[in-house]
Amino acid sequence: MADLAARAAELDAADELGKLRERFTLPDGVVYLDGNSLGALPAGVAAATADVVTRQWGELLIRSWDESDWWTAPERIGDKIAPLVGAAPGQVVVGDSTSVNLFKALVGAARLAGPGRTRMLVDAATFPTDGYIAQSAARLTGLTAVPTDPADVPAALGEDTAVVLLNHVDYRTGRLHDLPGLTAAARAAGAVVVWDLCHSAGALPVGLDAQAVDLAVGCTYKYLNGGPGAPAYLYIAERHQAAFDSPLPGWNGHADPFAMTPGYRPAEGATRGRVGTPDILSMLALEAALDAWDGVAVEAVRAKSLALTDFFLGCVAAYVPQGTVESVTPAEHAHRGSQISLRTDNAREVMRELISRGVIGDFRAPDVLRFGFTPLYVGFADAERAARTLGHIFG
Ligand SMILES: Cc1ncc(COP(=O)(O)O)c(C=O)c1O
Repeated sequence: MADLAARAAELDAADELGKLRERFTLPDGVVYLDGNSLGALPAGVAAATADVVTRQWGELLIRSWDESDWWTAPERIGDKIAPLVGAAPGQVVVGDSTSVNLFKALVGAARLAGPGRTRMLVDAATFPTDGYIAQSAARLTGLTAVPTDPADVPAALGEDTAVVLLNHVDYRTGRLHDLPGLTAAARAAGAVVVWDLCHSAGALPVGLDAQAVDLAVGCTYKYLNGGPGAPAYLYIAERHQAAFDSPLPGWNGHADPFAMTPGYRPAEGATRGRVGTPDILSMLALEAALDAWDGVAVEAVRAKSLALTDFFLGCVAAYVPQGTVESVTPAEHAHRGSQISLRTDNAREVMRELISRGVIGDFRAPDVLRFGFTPLYVGFADAERAARTLGHIFG
């Protein structure tokens, strides 16, 4: 035990990202491993948000739409997220929830795919909202949604496939899916591919442009630390923007919103993915939160994430009695996101006990303990303490 604690201290001392923890406000004595659900509070957010409320809203009032650049926040903040997901500027727009952006992306994808194709392949293990929205989008566009294991997608693709919806990292198991390979296969079959990046953006390189992804969505409250209910984003690859036909053509996506004309004319670029008035308070909190990424390379974050999850697995093997927990997260780096999911009996009670001892992860039904590793603020000593505490519970 002393060996692993000493090893953790060595790893933390050598960790070049370790000092980034100062960019976050975290309670003392807590090991926070739930950043894959709600990221921690970046240090600058409270002051930035107070300024938005008291000065921008309280004093400048309606002038802030121009003078505080509120109106252009969805594109500006989209461009701030873009490098984190490997996108050139002008392709990411922020606003609405992930669910709403999925709806825009899936219906938009079906319209891009054109007539004659009948099926929408949907990640069979997807986070539920994606499946619900996909069913509805398929019904509205005359497609049949077909639940498909991502590994079976290449074989399932055909001339009848219009759209493919996949998760980059599975929310329950932490499995990383092959975005380059699956995107290439889908595009070769003439399908339009939509990726959900909720569990990968901010945790590992995504490479949207490099892999020629068509459309993508993601939330900002997990590894991007945007805050509870922070707005999501929609990526529309530049080559699709002129033809992207949103099913929610609100006035914010209009080419000339203040002309107030009865006819809809979509704006150029990713702006056509906007719908209604942006939620400025959440959005500007997110903008401040993204400052935590200044000077940080996603590749370095990925390297630390893998080192952390490797170390955690090693500590679990050393501390937790054999046979009590089983990792459902792939051991191979190529297939692992930034969380470790352990299956165990009484998982709900075990997580409750962990939290009462200061180790915060979460539980996913029916039997999974999830531990998310956010390299910006989680260290190796945190991983060691979490595994040691788990061992004590099974003790
Ligand atoms: C993969 C995935 N998609 C979508 C969502 C939720 O989307 P929304 O922002 O609409 O609540 C989550 C939330 O945890 C998620 O993990």
